[in-house]
Amino acid sequence: MLQTHPINHTAIWAQLHQHQRSTRFLHMRDLFAQNPARFEQMHVQLHGLLLDYSKNRITEDTLQLLVQLAEAADLRGWMDKMRRGDAINISENRAVLHTALRLPESASVYVNGHNVVPDIQRERERALAFAEAVNNGSHLGAHGDTITDVVNIGIGGSDLGPQMATLALKPYRQRVNVHFVANVDGANLAQTLEQLNPARTVFIVASKSFATPETLLNARAARTWFLQQGFAEADIGRHFVAVSSQVAAATEFGIAPANVFAMFDWVGGRYSVWSAIGLPLMCAVGAAHFNDFLAGAHAMDTHFFNAPLRHNMPVLLGLIGLWYNTFYEAASHAVIPYDHGLRRLPAHLQQLDMESNGKQTGRLGEHLDFDTGAVIWGEEGVNCQHAFFQLLHQGSRLIPSDFIVPVQSHYPLGKQHQVLVANALAQTEALMRGKTLAEAHAELAHLDNQSRDMLAPQKVFPGNQPSNTLMLDAVTPFNLGMLLALYEHKVFVQGTIWGVNSFDQWGVEYGKVLAAAIEPQLANTETLAHDASTNALIAHYRKHHEH
Ligand code: F6P
Repeated sequence: MLQTHPINHTAIWAQLHQHQRSTRFLHMRDLFAQNPARFEQMHVQLHGLLLDYSKNRITEDTLQLLVQLAEAADLRGWMDKMRRGDAINISENRAVLHTALRLPESASVYVNGHNVVPDIQRERERALAFAEAVNNGSHLGAHGDTITDVVNIGIGGSDLGPQMATLALKPYRQRVNVHFVANVDGANLAQTLEQLNPARTVFIVASKSFATPETLLNARAARTWFLQQGFAEADIGRHFVAVSSQVAAATEFGIAPANVFAMFDWVGGRYSVWSAIGLPLMCAVGAAHFNDFLAGAHAMDTHFFNAPLRHNMPVLLGLIGLWYNTFYEAASHAVIPYDHGLRRLPAHLQQLDMESNGKQTGRLGEHLDFDTGAVIWGEEGVNCQHAFFQLLHQGSRLIPSDFIVPVQSHYPLGKQHQVLVANALAQTEALMRGKTLAEAHAELAHLDNQSRDMLAPQKVFPGNQPSNTLMLDAVTPFNLGMLLALYEHKVFVQGTIWGVNSFDQWGVEYGKVLAAAIEPQLANTETLAHDASTNALIAHYRKHHEH
């Protein structure tokens, strides 16, 4: 008999439900008015990153209760297990050591009695040396040309993290252009290849498993394209490298062993930008900036593992998110970066959070009869103000959000940045304060009664819509490292309290199996035995697709 995770049977869980019922009519506008020290008491700063969590539907009592919930779930114990390399990814019997990837050289972490830090250092040195050689021109193409373009072929965690960070750190760009091809839609690869000179291009085939069909198909297509441009098999060694935990599979695919950069089975795909999967980022920004990026993440790890729970940035972000998700039944959480470079952050966080915590089965196989992972979504500000903010301000749903705002811009163009920041802060203020009916009436004093009575309710903003604001001094490699590690740990905090294994992703597998069965059926005439809808759609495709 499996032991069930009892978190929703604990007294503190019931107490938090009770607390929610007794505080849900409090308005943040009043909480701010009553306590001038609210910001002082509800912010935390770590190096160049400030988290203001005061614009939330919480009181100090809420935070104390949430901390007790974390204690009841033995959050500290699980943090220690993760840090020291215990196999907390139970369903795959693996350690979870993305934090080890940002440890200094002098540290040690043991997996099955083996210190993994020297392995990490070795593979990182190899990958960084390759990136440097590409950038400084010492790694030449097979015909002696300098490399100008690097194409990363990978998907999911082998794409989103490195792509997001490469875009975010564009101001730190070295010499080469870095492209990302993820989708098996031929348009993605074809439109990328159109821009490239094969003599000056290096392809990185990035796949932890080296078994992801989309990636392998794109990698084969890239190799065929390369060979069709007048290159020989022997030239592939200078133009194709791989990153994988399955080194043998990569070499079998035709990548020379010297060109395979290893990652380890104890790092999950969505947590792997810190490993050799970061190779495209290393090529984009160079070794020094990549090391700063790791140092930022390590600074967040150190804070996470040591700061008291009540003042711990990832713990606070996790607990406050969980407060809405579990006790307010808020289904979604928006992430709004006010930084063009961070425009792919919502996509990265979608995978990080939803693939980690989108589960209704506990880590021991028990059914969880409460909601878990939030629907993560978002878009860069201010663009989204002109798209979905109407619903945040006047819609009927509770949607907590994170506003991510750099103090300094890398592109100080006129007053652009000041206007951008003013917009971010104005939105959080409006979401929190709202506008009362009396205020709306007063604004419309010039109208006749009938018009005013019709219009005023439409100008009411209920407010009390929660937000966290994360202010970064600037989007530097170090601060970006801190920011990403912050979200990784937030996800861990929530998963630990809910009792899910945040490090497997069985839910993605089923669709892959069905896709493999359907794919040949699209091109053959075999009798179909799916449901009526799927059968009809396959038949429609067969009839209308031109071979
Ligand atoms: O989508 C499922 C998944 O396994 C992700 O977890 C992973 O990041 C992605 O596929 C790519 O996997 P791989 O790096 O093994 O090709």
